[in-house]
Amino acid sequence: MRRGRAPGKVLLLGEHSVVYGHPALAASIPRHVTVELLPAGETRIELPGGIQTPFPLREAAVAMAREAGFEGAFHARLQSEIPLGSGLGSSAAFGVALARAFKPGCSPDEAAALAMRIERVLHGAPSGVDPMACAREGVIFFIRGEPPRVEAVRGAAWIAVALTGIARGTHSTVLPLAERRKADARIDPLLARLGELARKGRQLFERGDLPGLGATFDDAHAGLRELGVSCAELEETVAALRKAGALGAKLTGAGGGGAAIGLARDEAHAREMAAETGGFAVEVGG
Ligand code: MEV
Repeated sequence: MRRGRAPGKVLLLGEHSVVYGHPALAASIPRHVTVELLPAGETRIELPGGIQTPFPLREAAVAMAREAGFEGAFHARLQSEIPLGSGLGSSAAFGVALARAFKPGCSPDEAAALAMRIERVLHGAPSGVDPMACAREGVIFFIRGEPPRVEAVRGAAWIAVALTGIARGTHSTVLPLAERRKADARIDPLLARLGELARKGRQLFERGDLPGLGATFDDAHAGLRELGVSCAELEETVAALRKAGALGAKLTGAGGGGAAIGLARDEAHAREMAAETGGFAVEVGG
C-alpha cells in the first residue's frame, strides 16, 4: 500500500481576486488529508462518511494516475482531518496527497500541478493557489500563471479558524462571480483592491505588524462582502471572531459558507477566540 499526505490551507488574503491574476497570501494549516492507495481490479475512490464519489472526480483521478506514471486500476481511500467543503482546502489537499501516493518523492510544484486535475473538476476555474499552498506548506505569496509565481513568505501568526457549518463547493461562488463580472463594472476595481490588500498584507506579515495585518483582514472582508461572496452565516461568524477580540477577521476561501479566520495577538489569544467561537487555533508560517 502507498500513502500520500498533505495539509489543508487558509487564504489569508486575495481569494477570488487571485483567479483574475492578482496576488494572494495563503497558508497551510496543520490539519491533514491522507490517501491510502492500493492496486485493485477496478478503480474506486472511497470518500469519508460514505459520500458518493462523483464520476468526473474518478475520471480526473485516473487521468492524474496516468500523468504521474501509475499504471493499472486502484482503490484510493481518503481520510480527512478537515471537514469537506469547509473552505479549508480538503479537495486541494486530497489532490496533493493523491499525487504523492501516485508518484512518491515528486516535488511540491509537481504535486500541485498534478492536483490541478482534481481542482478543475471540483472548482471549475481554479487559480491553482489552493493546491500550491497545500503542497509548498508554510505561507506563500502566489500569482497565477504558467507556471505560477510562488514565493515563500517569512513570518508567523496565530489565527482562530471558525466554521459556519455550511459546506459549499468553491464553484458555487467562483462561477457566479465570473458571470456577474461580465455585466458589473464595479467588480474589477474591487478585485484589484483585494489584490492590493494581499500585497500590503504580505509586507505587514513579514514585519510582524499584527494590528496592520488585522486591519487588512477587515478591509478584505468588506471587499469580499461587496463582491457578494459572503452570506449571513459568515457575517455572524466574522462578528463572533471580532467580539472575541480578533485584531481583524474575514471569510477565508470561496465564501458562501465555509470558514472565517480571526487574527490573534498570540497563541493564548487564538485559543481563547477558538473556544469562544467553537473553532480551532493554528499557527500559520513559523
Ligand atoms: C479558494 O480557496 C480560493 C478562490 O480564489 C478560488 C481559486 O483561487 O481557485 C476562491
